[in-house]
Amino acid sequence: MRVSSTFRTPGVIITGIGSVQQVGGEAVKLGARQALVVTDKVLNATGLTARVTRPLEAQGITVDVIDEVVPEPPFENVERIARSIAGRDYDVLIGLGGGSALDVTKALAIMLTNPGDVRELIGIDKVRNKGIPFILIPTTAGTGSEVTYNAIFTDAKDDVKKGIVSPHLLPDVAIVDAELTVSVPPKVTAATGMDALVHAVESYTAGRATELTDGVALHAIQLISRSLRSAVYSGNNIAAREDMAMGSLMAGISLGNAGVGAVHALAYPLGGKFKVPHGVANSLLLPYVMKYNVIANLTKFANVANALGENTDGLSLRDAAEKAVQAMAKLSQDVGIPATLSDVGVTAADIALLAEEAGKIDRLLNNNPRWLTVKEIEAIYRAAYDGSHAAIV
Ligand SMILES: [Fe+2]
Repeated sequence: MRVSSTFRTPGVIITGIGSVQQVGGEAVKLGARQALVVTDKVLNATGLTARVTRPLEAQGITVDVIDEVVPEPPFENVERIARSIAGRDYDVLIGLGGGSALDVTKALAIMLTNPGDVRELIGIDKVRNKGIPFILIPTTAGTGSEVTYNAIFTDAKDDVKKGIVSPHLLPDVAIVDAELTVSVPPKVTAATGMDALVHAVESYTAGRATELTDGVALHAIQLISRSLRSAVYSGNNIAAREDMAMGSLMAGISLGNAGVGAVHALAYPLGGKFKVPHGVANSLLLPYVMKYNVIANLTKFANVANALGENTDGLSLRDAAEKAVQAMAKLSQDVGIPATLSDVGVTAADIALLAEEAGKIDRLLNNNPRWLTVKEIEAIYRAAYDGSHAAIV
């Protein structure tokens, strides 16, 4: 019998082309009179912010915009924004952007009702009071932050990413409108899209996966794998963008509840020292970690192969599962992600230290389908360095 598990999502998730227009009505339902849109400068300069401010103003809501969110935000970024809005009495926050803007919005909402040092909220369930109401609107198809209940920030003191994990970080409303993602450039579409695919595959095969997350994750793999190439190479293809937006949302729901595993654990040290973007690091490592993991759950990896559109008729379960590894490597290369660690500046001499760092991330490693220690992690990094699966047994 399964141990008990909890499945959480935002109370309201609105999807579809043009759905961003509903932000005004949703804000009214949350009692908004004065709203703050939280975003970054690059996005604000594109004029996309007006797609959110107009429907709010049409409802008679006073709207301010703050575009101070920086990529991979440190705690200091959140603290600076919190100081600049102190005493302004906003009653609803609206996060607009990629994962960084959405995570900052989550943190601001709870900081307004939990006074003190935000660092005291790091960890699981440290947030006592529900935050002020907030709505999250992603403009990339990748992080799934609009439906997860964690927020990740860099601590400038040790350059380590730290997370606040609390159900209070789920938004009151998530609005996922694929039209907002149409102008995302190919490289970002590829990296964020592959990150979403990693969320789906890792959560589907995770130790904490349940029937509820399995259904959502498997369909996310189908949607993303059938449309990522089109979204990257034909950005105006709205049907492909819709698949990516929906796939990323579903992958986020699965990730939020089942968690991720060794791909993310091995990717984090690459982000720190080598500044490899999160999605690129995940995508690069995925086929190698999958090669290691396959043996632990052949049925699920064979299902992944089918969800990726591979024909597994007549194959043994083992061969069908292996097909998922090959298909994933092909997809990653097709969208222009580097295939080896040497392509992103890692040398053979770096591998031992990377493995040591990844080996400390028990939270993720314990959720991986196959048990692994620093020795196995080193073998996976070596395989990813050589671009061959030979080191993986
Ligand atoms: Fe991720």
